[in-house]
Amino acid sequence: MPNEDEMVVTPWEVRGRVDYEKLIREFGTQPITEELLEQLKKHLGELHLQLRRRLFFSHRDLDLILQLYEQGKKFTLYTGRGPSGHVHVGHLVPWIFTKYLQDNFDTRLYFQMTDDEKFVIEENLELRETKEFAYENALDLIALGFKPENTFIIFDVQDIGLLYDIALEVSKRVTFSTARAVFGFQDSTNIGWIFWPAIQAVPCFIHSKLTGENVPSLIPAAIDQDPYWRVTRDVAQKLGYFKPAQIHCRFVPGLGKGGKMSASEPETCIFTTDTPHDIKTKIWNAFTGGRPTVKEQRKLGGEPDICTVYQYFLYLFEDNDDKLAERQGDCRTGRIVCGDCKAVLTERVTEFLLDHQRKRERARDTVEDFFITR
Ligand code: TYM
Repeated sequence: MPNEDEMVVTPWEVRGRVDYEKLIREFGTQPITEELLEQLKKHLGELHLQLRRRLFFSHRDLDLILQLYEQGKKFTLYTGRGPSGHVHVGHLVPWIFTKYLQDNFDTRLYFQMTDDEKFVIEENLELRETKEFAYENALDLIALGFKPENTFIIFDVQDIGLLYDIALEVSKRVTFSTARAVFGFQDSTNIGWIFWPAIQAVPCFIHSKLTGENVPSLIPAAIDQDPYWRVTRDVAQKLGYFKPAQIHCRFVPGLGKGGKMSASEPETCIFTTDTPHDIKTKIWNAFTGGRPTVKEQRKLGGEPDICTVYQYFLYLFEDNDDKLAERQGDCRTGRIVCGDCKAVLTERVTEFLLDHQRKRERARDTVEDFFITR
């Protein structure tokens, strides 16, 4: 019998109670220390709430990237999306953070849309569908306000000619035994999937190919993507490139009990295309840290630490630290109850998404300005 609480974190599956300290140890990454935050402050000024509240908690070589930057060596940013459906609020987290880095460091972003990955991995998706979602998901990225002159979206299937030579170089240097150990491939895994990690490695190095300038790349993403970088880092230097650096975030939870926000559980997942009615229904059905009755809650108070609604304020929808602390205190003492928090969150998410949806529609006119092949 599989243990429901057992932690599984791979690029394709996140399950159980995620223990982030343990992931740092198991994946061999570094925690983001106070010292590193101080160093970041020199370049970023006021720290983004995702750093202040430790949503971004782990890294590889971020210290080195900053050191090189201080010596005058630029870096590029790289992140991406596996377009298997519409984007949800969890996906926006690393992208919002990437934009913050792009604005402050004035760097290029390479963004990979892996329509090929999702086709080989997802049994029920046709290539036509993953290509369509790639286009639709690009609108979400653009709606966040990235600058076209510094942003280059790669659509894998369309742009494979640009990627293929570097992918071949990578694939020749990764044995099946390594790939199996890192990704858990089995005899039944299709061979498209087995080759595929070589493609996700390419944008770490593409800047060099396009400009002749060999600079390191920094990847903001949730920690589920880390296995790709372990393999990529092993081959980078053999190919004459810098090892790609990473900054890892935690998972924004779904609105149900436990687990990350995941499109496979649509009722607990807020999509950027949801209507105000969908948003309201999902938030009102959310798992909270409340008591069985309002009377009990007024008396005993609630538990923000286990409350999904509170986590949305913490990680996304309450930038003001004092107001957040007040909400937390008021919950613990029973001064406010779950209905109060749900009403405020519904209002904030609705306002954010209606604005996002307008920008997303406008992005249809400019999306081609972001294509890497423009
Ligand atoms: P995908 O589409 O699974 O996820 C896109 C990005 O969202 C992050 N993410 C989350 N972050 C916070 N909370 C969540 N609940 C949550 N769920 C997903 C993922 O870590 C990712 O950063 N193979 C990749 C596509 C890709 C990529 C990359 C991602 C290609 N190159 C470089 C990051 C960096 C994928 O399927 O992502």
